Amino acid sequence: MTDTAAGSEAGGAAAEDARGRVLHATGADGAATAAPVIRTRDLTKRYRGGQLAVDGLDLTVPTGSVFGFLGPNGSGKTTTIRMLMGLIDPTSGTAEVLGRPMPEATRTVLPEVGALIEGPALYGFLNGRDNLLRYDRADPTADPSTRRARVGTALERVGLAAASGKKAKAYSLGMKQRLGLAAALLRPRRLLVLDEPTNGLDPQGMREIRLLVRELAAEGTTVFLSSHLLDEIEQVCTHAAVMARGRLIVQGPVADLAARARGRLAVTTPDPGDAARILEEHGITGLSTDGDRLTADAPPAAVDLADLNAALVGGGVRVRFFGVERGSLEEAFVALTGEGFDVAG
Ligand SMILES: Nc1ncnc2c1ncn2[C@@H]1O[C@H](COP(=O)(O)OP(=O)(O)OP(=O)(O)O)[C@@H](O)[C@H]1O
Ligand SMILES: [Mg+2]
Repeated sequence: MTDTAAGSEAGGAAAEDARGRVLHATGADGAATAAPVIRTRDLTKRYRGGQLAVDGLDLTVPTGSVFGFLGPNGSGKTTTIRMLMGLIDPTSGTAEVLGRPMPEATRTVLPEVGALIEGPALYGFLNGRDNLLRYDRADPTADPSTRRARVGTALERVGLAAASGKKAKAYSLGMKQRLGLAAALLRPRRLLVLDEPTNGLDPQGMREIRLLVRELAAEGTTVFLSSHLLDEIEQVCTHAAVMARGRLIVQGPVADLAARARGRLAVTTPDPGDAARILEEHGITGLSTDGDRLTADAPPAAVDLADLNAALVGGGVRVRFFGVERGSLEEAFVALTGEGFDVAG
């Protein structure tokens, strides 16, 4: 967790569980009081053929957040995003984007939203720059006099300036993804909706996109991005929602979600045998030893870590490191769903 500070900085919203019960309220920096940029109520999509892809989703995306929409393959992320962007109709329930109902307000809402949705549509015979020029021309609300400059800036931002003269059909997957992102950045947006923005990117490309997302957020754009990569969400997002099998499992500030994973007690010592015995005597479970490192289930809140450490030292254990390592989002996910991060059948 490198960016937990960002998580608490942008806090300001209440963590809610799947039933909307407020668990924890943070800060009073305004984010909690501003109207959310996305709000859905009981949003449901059943595809023709019977597949229930999204099941009663109540999602609240606070203004100013970098919101990670997390879930394994097939959990309903893209389906939700398509409903939010007015591309498909919900079977039931409602969705509001920037305070207006979707899909009814699609025409007024979409100019304020930059979107990158699974596999951007590109003209293969045009080069990257011309693709963007054409895309911008198709937007009746875009200013033609600034078009060239805006296209140039967008290409720069996604690291595609040097490759802008190459035909899009000759672009790699990662280059296409960058071009799609550039299209979303052609003008300032209140909201960016990015479906798996780092899909197809190499590690360096992923880092660049994360940096870009942080920059955009710092400029005041709310970013809603989907991912099935837990560490990506941990690194860049202030808030997250976790989906599994079309249902919302939990949503809230990332720091709060990760804190739900109990974490592991870790002890480094040249006396792991004695340490294990003493910890067991103190009711610690789930012990495992690897060389001089011993880990175990985090003790219940009633156990004072200082007492536990004192017991070890008092028992002659030479302690090099002692502490509870915070759980990852992945552990939280497993704890919340009782299942791993695999594709549901
Ligand atoms: N057009 C469609 N018709 C029927 N079923 C669909 C359609 N699109 C998606 N589904 C089904 O709906 C469920 C959710 O799919 P969706 O694409 O929303 O998942 P996702 O979370 O975006 O997955 P991924 O991480 O793989 O992109 C899946 O079971 C999928 O098979
Ligand atoms: Mg998807």
